[in-house]
Amino acid sequence: MKSEDYSQGDAFQAEKRAVFSTETLPLCAEGQLARPGDFVSATVGGWSVFAARDKEGSVRVLRNACRHQNMQVVGTPAGNCETFRCRFHGWTYDLQGRFVSAPPPVAPKDLQSPDLHLASLPSVIASGVVFFSLAAPPAPIDVGTLPAFGGTLVTDIACNWKVLVEHLLAEHTPSADFTWAWPLLMVRRAGAVTVMEQVVPHTFLRTRLFTHVFGAKADDTKQAAATIKHVCETLQADRAGGKPAADGTLLVDDFHHRLAEAYAQDRPAT
Ligand code: FES
Repeated sequence: MKSEDYSQGDAFQAEKRAVFSTETLPLCAEGQLARPGDFVSATVGGWSVFAARDKEGSVRVLRNACRHQNMQVVGTPAGNCETFRCRFHGWTYDLQGRFVSAPPPVAPKDLQSPDLHLASLPSVIASGVVFFSLAAPPAPIDVGTLPAFGGTLVTDIACNWKVLVEHLLAEHTPSADFTWAWPLLMVRRAGAVTVMEQVVPHTFLRTRLFTHVFGAKADDTKQAAATIKHVCETLQADRAGGKPAADGTLLVDDFHHRLAEAYAQDRPAT
């Protein structure tokens, strides 16, 4: 990896096309959507999406792009609501993303058109996590039975997403107690507790860490998450300053190898 891959937008655009447009991506823990009307929104690798549970109990992943003028419909990271009302001109959608109404001055001509509904993405719930994909049916991991969901801690980190992935992989090898689901999810087991660390590439220099905790309270991981934030922000400064990421562990090497393959696929054939 080159220094600019961590600090400039070109690599992020390539990753958006060659990684985030094609792979199975985690969006949130199912436990974050416990009640009808619960929703979680995120920008994952440049794609703005949200998951919502409808009144019948089903969960969908929808593109967070209004069918009026393509603006973000959901502007908060999480919450509970009856309908989604776009804050720009008031188009309203139900919990399944179906168009409900619009103020007369901006109402569409054909109120029955299926093109008015928010775009639904292929999604699946597995191992307590909502996965989606922009390209094909998601292929999630299976980590077996989980203890009771204890909550999600959200940490914003001023670093490129690759810095966080490298840091979370660096001290581990694949084992019964550690699973990495390329590209964005790590699962650690310690006795009766399972912790899932979900990397959310918000922008190329802003990354969110969702720490989903099963078998304990999410707040129990606060100190660990604060340490991860401090370390990754320091590492980001190193990368931007030209200090390369250290290779040498199996999983970090594998991560760099997969990224190099993605970049190569993204390059136009000559
Ligand atoms: S962009 Fe959503 S109502 Fe206009």
